[in-house]
Amino acid sequence: MTAICTDRGMFLYVVLILVQNGNGEGCTQIRKNGHYSCGGRNLTYIPTSIPSSVEMLDFSFNFLPTLQRTVFPQLYNLKLLDLTRCHIHHITDDAFHNVKNVTTLILTGNPISYTGLDGLNSLHKLHRLVLVDTGLSSLNVQFSNLTELRELNVGTNNVQSVALPPFMINFRDFSSLDLHANNISILRVNDTNVLRQMKGNITLILSRNPILFIEPGAFQNLHLRELNIRSAFISLDAQRDGLKALVGLNVGKLIIGSYRAHHAKTTETNDLDGLCLINYEEFYFYQNQWLDLSSHVFRCMVNATKITLKRGRIRVIEPVSFRQLKELYIGKNGLEEIPQLSNIQSLEKFVVVDNDQVLFRGLRDMPSLRHVDLSRNLMSLRSCCFEYFRDTPNIRHINLSLNANIMLLAKPFSGLDLLEVLDFHHTEIGVVGQFGLLQNLKYLKYLDLSYTSNTFGSTSSFYGLTSLKVLKIAGNAFQKETLGYLFENLIALEVLDMSNCDIDRLVWRDFRDLQRLQHLLLSQNRLMVLDFLAQTNLPSLTRLALDQNGITSIPQNTLQNLPKNLSIFDISFNPINCLCTQRDFIQWIIEHQKMFPKPHNVLCKTLQTDSKMRAIDFDVESCIHAQILTVVLSMCAVLLFVFASVLAYRFQFYLRYSCVLLRGYRASRQQECSYDAFVIYSSKDESWVMDELVENLENGIPPIHLCLHVRDFEAGKAITSNIIDEGIMGSRKIIVVISKHFIESSWCRFEFEVAQSWLVTQGNANIIIIILEDVEEEKTKKVFGLHKHLKKNTYLKWSGKPISNMRFWIRLRKAVMMRN
Ligand SMILES: *[C@@H]1O[C@H](CO)[C@@H](O)[C@H](O)[C@H]1NC(C)=O
Ligand SMILES: *[C@@H]1O[C@H](CO)[C@@H](O)[C@H](O)[C@H]1NC(C)=O
Ligand SMILES: *[C@@H]1O[C@H](CO)[C@@H](O)[C@H](O)[C@H]1NC(C)=O
Ligand SMILES: *[C@@H]1O[C@H](CO)[C@@H](O)[C@H](O)[C@H]1NC(C)=O
Ligand SMILES: *[C@@H]1O[C@H](CO)[C@@H](O)[C@H](O)[C@H]1NC(C)=O
Ligand SMILES: *[C@@H]1O[C@H](CO)[C@@H](O)[C@H](O)[C@H]1NC(C)=O
Ligand SMILES: *[C@@H]1O[C@H](CO)[C@@H](O)[C@H](O)[C@H]1NC(C)=O
Repeated sequence: MTAICTDRGMFLYVVLILVQNGNGEGCTQIRKNGHYSCGGRNLTYIPTSIPSSVEMLDFSFNFLPTLQRTVFPQLYNLKLLDLTRCHIHHITDDAFHNVKNVTTLILTGNPISYTGLDGLNSLHKLHRLVLVDTGLSSLNVQFSNLTELRELNVGTNNVQSVALPPFMINFRDFSSLDLHANNISILRVNDTNVLRQMKGNITLILSRNPILFIEPGAFQNLHLRELNIRSAFISLDAQRDGLKALVGLNVGKLIIGSYRAHHAKTTETNDLDGLCLINYEEFYFYQNQWLDLSSHVFRCMVNATKITLKRGRIRVIEPVSFRQLKELYIGKNGLEEIPQLSNIQSLEKFVVVDNDQVLFRGLRDMPSLRHVDLSRNLMSLRSCCFEYFRDTPNIRHINLSLNANIMLLAKPFSGLDLLEVLDFHHTEIGVVGQFGLLQNLKYLKYLDLSYTSNTFGSTSSFYGLTSLKVLKIAGNAFQKETLGYLFENLIALEVLDMSNCDIDRLVWRDFRDLQRLQHLLLSQNRLMVLDFLAQTNLPSLTRLALDQNGITSIPQNTLQNLPKNLSIFDISFNPINCLCTQRDFIQWIIEHQKMFPKPHNVLCKTLQTDSKMRAIDFDVESCIHAQILTVVLSMCAVLLFVFASVLAYRFQFYLRYSCVLLRGYRASRQQECSYDAFVIYSSKDESWVMDELVENLENGIPPIHLCLHVRDFEAGKAITSNIIDEGIMGSRKIIVVISKHFIESSWCRFEFEVAQSWLVTQGNANIIIIILEDVEEEKTKKVFGLHKHLKKNTYLKWSGKPISNMRFWIRLRKAVMMRN
C-alpha cells in the first residue's frame, strides 16, 4: 500500500517537474530582436532555451530568492533585465557576473535585505536602475562604480532625504532621480549639495511625499530640467510655503497640483505667489479633483512659455500680459468665458477644451497663433469665423468640434487663408453643404464635417480645396445628383469618410477624380450593390470599409477588379447570402481573410436576429457535393430523355396512334357516314384494289361506296386527320387488305391499328379482313392485334379462282352491307 502511494507521489513530482520545465522552455520570443518574456511562470532558474544572444529578458514574477553567479548563464548581449517581483532577498557580490553588460536593471517589488558590496557595482554599463518598492530606507546603496548611470528610480520606498551619496557627483550623464512616494518630509539646504554640484539638467520627481518644510535656499541656483512636486506637500499651506522656499530655482518644467482631494476646495489668492520666485519655462497644474483657483492664478506665470491647467476651476481670469507664452492649455476648468486674450505676440497654440457652455468673444491680434482648439465646450457661436479671429493671419489649425452650434458667415474664413486643419465634427453648422464657403482655403489639408447636420446640395461645397487630403463627412446627407460632382477637383484627397450618410447607391463617376484616394470609408450606409467598384479607377486605394451595409453578394468581376493595393477590406455585419449559388464569393472571403480586419464579423444573413453565422464557417465542400449531385441528376435526366426518345422513335406509331385516338375521341360521334367502307391497303396492292375491289363493289347493285385514300382523302389535310375523319369516322366498315406488302408498310400497320382501336373504343368491331395472299403467321404478329384478330374472327380469303371469287364477292358484299 505504502509503496503504491510513494510511487504516485513520485509520479506527481515528475509531472510537476515536467510542467515546470515545459513552462520554462515556453518562454516566448516577443520580437525578432532577441526580446524574450518568461514573466509570471514561477520559474526558479533561467531556462536553457533562452539563447545567449538575448538582448531583453523579462523574467518578472518568478522565484529567485538569492541572486548569485550561477543564476544567470553567460548572456553578454543582454541589455535589459527585468526581475520585477522575483522574491529576491539576497544579491551576492558576483550575482551579475554573467550579465555584466546590462544597461537597464529592474528590481521592482523585491524585498532586498542584503546587497553584496560589488553586487550592483559590477554593472559598469548600467544606465537605468529601478529599485521601486524594495524596502530602501536611504539612498546609501552600494553603486558607487555605476558612473554611466543616467536614471535612478527609487519610488515607493522609505527614503527620508533627497541627499544623494557624494560619489554621484562623478555620474556625469545622470539625468533623472525619481523619489515619488517616499517618506521625505523635510528638505534642508545640505540635502541638495550633491545635486547642486552635478552638471545640472536633472529631472527630480518628489511627487506623493509628505513634505512639511523646505529650508529656504535649498534650491537656490539649482538648474533642473524638470521638478515634479505634484501632491508632494502634506497640505496646501505647506505647499504655499514650500513654493516660496524654492526661491532661486531654475527649472524647465514645473509640475504641481494634486492627485488627491485637498481638505480645502479653494485656494487663497497668494497660494501660488511662490512661483514668482522661481524661474521656469513650462508650468503644469494637474488636479484629479476640482480645486477652485483664484483669479490671480496667472500672476506669477508671465515669464512662462507654456502653461497647462487641468481641473483647476477658474471662474474669472484677471488679464495678464504674458511676455513669452507660446502655448496655453486649459482643460476641464469650468470656465464661464474663454479668456479674452489679445495681443500676445508670442502665442502659438491656444487650447481651451472641456468646459460647459462657455462664452467666447474671440481672439485678437496674435500674429504667431497657429493652432486653436476650442473643442468640447458646448458653445454656440453666431457669425463665425473671421469675426472671432481678428488679426490672426497665421492660424493653421482650428478645432471647433463637439460644440453646440455655429453659424457661418458668408465668407467665413476670409483672412484665414492659411488654414490647414478645420474640425467641426459633432457641431451643428448646417450651411456648408449649400454654398461654396471654403473656396479660399487652398492649403486646407484636413476637413472634418462629420455629424454637422449638413445636407450637401451644392456641387461647389468643396470647391477650391485642391490640397485637401482628409475629408470626413460622416453622418450627413446628400441631395440627389450632388454626389456625382461633389468631389470634383479634390485631386489630393487620400482619406474620404462617408460613413452613416444613408447612401444607397454609388456610381463610379462619383470618385473619378480621386486618383490618390487611399482610404474610403462607407460604413453604416444602405449599399446593396458595389457595381461602382467594378469600373472605379481608384489605383491608390488600400482600405475600403463597407461594414454595416446591405450587401448580400459581390459579383466575381467586381472582386477581380478590386484595386491592386487594397489590403483592408471590411464587409463586417452585412447580410451576406450564404448560399451555394454564392459559393465563389464565399470561397473568396475564406481565401482573403487577411484583408478583413475582423473576419469573424463577416456574417451571413439569418432569419433570427440573435443568431450569428459567420461566412468563414460556411461549408463550401457541401456545395461541391450538392453540385455533383445536381450534375449526376441532370445527366440521369438527359439519359432518361435520350432513352425515352429512342423508345418514342422505336414505337412512334403507337405514340402517333395514341394521339390520333385522343383526337378522334374528341370528334363527334354523331358524324354521318358518307362511305360504306374504308379500305386499308398497301399502295403496292393498288391495282388489285382498283381493278377488283372497286370494280366489284362500287359497280354492283346496290353500289357500295368505298373510301380510298388515293381518291377520297382531302388534299392538304394531315394524313392522320384524313384517316380518322374521312376514313374511319366517315365509313361504316373498314376493309383491310392483308398482303406481304401490307405487313411491310408501316403506314398500313398504323392505319390498321388506329382503325382497330378506334372501333374498339367506339364499341363496334366492324373490321373486314381480306387475305390477299398468304402471309406467314410470324409476320402477322408484326402488326399489332392482327394475329389475334385473325384467330378470333373470320376473314375472307382471295384465291384468284373465278368460282371461289364469286363466293368471295357475295360474302364481302354481305359483310359490308350488314348493319349492326
Ligand atoms: C512558486 O514556487 C515556489 C517554490 O518553488 C513555491 O513555494 C510557491 O508556492 C510557488 N507559487 C505558485 C503561485 O505556484
Ligand atoms: C569599483 O571601483 C573600485 C575603485 O575604482 C574598484 O576598486 C572596484 O574593484 C570596483 N568594483 C567592481 C565590482 O568593479
Ligand atoms: C516616515 O518618517 C517619519 C519620521 O520622519 C517616521 O516617524 C515615520 O514612521 C515614517 N513612516 C514610515 C511609513 O516609515
Ligand atoms: C539641458 O538640456 C537642454 C536640452 O536637453 C540643453 O539645451 C541644455 O544645454 C542643457 N543644459 C545643461 C546645463 O546641460
Ligand atoms: C519675469 O522675468 C523678468 C526678467 O526676465 C523679471 O524681471 C520678472 O521678475 C519675471 N517675472 C516673474 C513673475 O517671474
Ligand atoms: C479636435 O478635438 C477633438 C476633441 O477634443 C479631438 O478628438 C480631435 O482629434 C481634434 N481634431 C483634430 C484635427 O485634432
Ligand atoms: C501599390 O503599393 C506598392 C508597394 O507599396 C507601391 O510601390 C505602389 O506605388 C502602389 N501603387 C499605387 C497605384 O499606389
